[in-house]
Amino acid sequence: MLSWSPCSLPQLSAMNVRTFLVNRFVWTLLAGTALGQTCQTTTLQSAAPGDGSEVVLASYSYCGGTLTATVVDLGYSSGIPGTDYELWSIAAPVWVDGIDTLLNISYQAVDIAGFYTQQLNKAVEASGDAPPTLPSPSKPYAVPEGLAGDIDTFLAVVNTSQAGLALTRMFQNINPGVSGDFPGTVVAARSGPSYEQTDPDYEYNWVRDSSLTMDVVETLYAAASEPRVKQQYEDILFQYMAARAMEQNDPNLATGLGEPKTYLIQFYLNNTIFSGPWGRPQNDGPATAAITLINFANAYEAAGGSLQDVKLKMYDSSANSSAPVQRDLLFVATNWTSSSFDLWEEESSDHFYTRLVQRRALVLGATFATRMGDLNTANKLSSALSEISATFNDFWDSGRQILLYEYGPILRGKTSYLDIAVILGVIHGYADDGFFAYTNDQVQSTALRLATAFIDVYPIANKTSDASGLTLGIPIGRYPEDVYDGTGTQQNGGNPWYLCTAAMAQFMYGNSAAYSENGSITVTNTSKPFFDYFTPNAGLESGQTYTKTSQEFTRAISGLNGWGDTFMRTVKFYTPSNGRLAEEFNRNDGAPQGAADLTWSYASILTASFSRAKVNNQTTYIRDLANLGITPNL
Ligand code: NOJ
Ligand code: NOJ
Repeated sequence: MLSWSPCSLPQLSAMNVRTFLVNRFVWTLLAGTALGQTCQTTTLQSAAPGDGSEVVLASYSYCGGTLTATVVDLGYSSGIPGTDYELWSIAAPVWVDGIDTLLNISYQAVDIAGFYTQQLNKAVEASGDAPPTLPSPSKPYAVPEGLAGDIDTFLAVVNTSQAGLALTRMFQNINPGVSGDFPGTVVAARSGPSYEQTDPDYEYNWVRDSSLTMDVVETLYAAASEPRVKQQYEDILFQYMAARAMEQNDPNLATGLGEPKTYLIQFYLNNTIFSGPWGRPQNDGPATAAITLINFANAYEAAGGSLQDVKLKMYDSSANSSAPVQRDLLFVATNWTSSSFDLWEEESSDHFYTRLVQRRALVLGATFATRMGDLNTANKLSSALSEISATFNDFWDSGRQILLYEYGPILRGKTSYLDIAVILGVIHGYADDGFFAYTNDQVQSTALRLATAFIDVYPIANKTSDASGLTLGIPIGRYPEDVYDGTGTQQNGGNPWYLCTAAMAQFMYGNSAAYSENGSITVTNTSKPFFDYFTPNAGLESGQTYTKTSQEFTRAISGLNGWGDTFMRTVKFYTPSNGRLAEEFNRNDGAPQGAADLTWSYASILTASFSRAKVNNQTTYIRDLANLGITPNL
């Protein structure tokens, strides 16, 4: 989060080219300006104003993506000899679309409780070099081909494989049994006051983590053929639904339904909203909760459940306050325009991830509401859907050839604009309707630039093969500039995460599966670098379409599968021998770090394994894994 300096600071408002983002610009005081560039500085006033104005703009430039301004203001003590004025200089990186107008200077002198302002309405011209673009991706350090046997074993359908362990450990964190938790809640990790490892305190039920975990339970539920385990999954999903409804009805919702998490351990507070200071709201939560529960409703009906039950127990919040789906959907439809904190809980802005999961909730929700006979809600969802869909162009940065993870204020220092959140957005938010699909060329370009960015960030990326000489993929973290080390923050403290590395594997499998289903690959200028890096042996050319029968197609699929397995092999390589997955693995030595037994780490292994099974033609994989059932606690 950006923090404000406690002393008096001049503040300039800048108008963005897009009207809805006016005034979201936040100033930071910086030491220097863009060096070595030809900057054009506009000077308006070089001396103290003779007319007694309290604050005036002296000069400004917008150069190389940095806005610099010098301000003369009436100071408490004299700064310009012979006058009562001080000279202030400020500079701030301007986020990606730049600015076109300076609106005013506002100066809040907190020491004397004064507020000075000058109206400007001055046009700003950009000068100097363009804001830095990302370097071109490096040459691939390996050319892995095809799915590999070691990963078959890693994810095999047996209790003792990593997939089997992930299943067991994930269920161990659902209804975790710490002092009578509320049924249907999920502890984010086995780290907190009730556990051996107390730091960090993840002993809460996070709305996001729970919904993503329960979506895996839903997939297992839909696939299971063994009646006893199917019933167990169904019971858990009904409990989850009740828990979600309880959260919605909590009297202490400070910011609506986007509250990030609930208490787990104090029995009198079970599943009540966490009321301490936190980055709130996080408006992805109502969307992913709705997605999971709609998927559940559909699977429940497919398993013989009645439409009436679905409507009354799951959907119709206006008739039954313990039916949560309609309420979350309407919240998404009416609140998607509000900025909220991102999935990493760090910055309030407009986030690609949040938008895309909200969009998917609206897609699924509009169909679902129609099926429930609620045309009024269906119409609201459909019109929100058209509006939200029209905003995604903002995220594409053609200079950098990436989808921005957020559009608006950015986290301090996060200037690569790269974040696995974009890929996770596609994984959790692709609505199967061609809108930001896995194979979207902008998504592919982003995935390439994001993945390769970590090569120079993490020392362990230098290790490119395992003991058997098999290629390791690039270790993937949240974003290159991350400083969160799993318990606190430190310089160069960010680490690769299991769930982020598994997400890259899933993304590769997802591409492979989509092309095989579609029957052809079309390459554009935007996606060419992605194919050059990940499938160099296919020799794909921009502007060409390759059909299933071509050698290029076969080779491209082989490259995608090969990289999918190398990313998974990185997860495998840094998984300790007991199979327990923390949140992160250390950037220097690969040792597990941060929250122990992170539920989302396990869920991410499972969803990646489901995608891999698809490309491996293992049509009964999910069913067979689901039928293993819930193993009693290890
Ligand atoms: C906890 C948040 O959940 C995490 O995402 C963040 O990076 C750290 N706090 C540091 O702010
Ligand atoms: C921190 C992560 O940044 C956030 O995404 C997650 O919800 C919480 N930890 C809980 O796992």
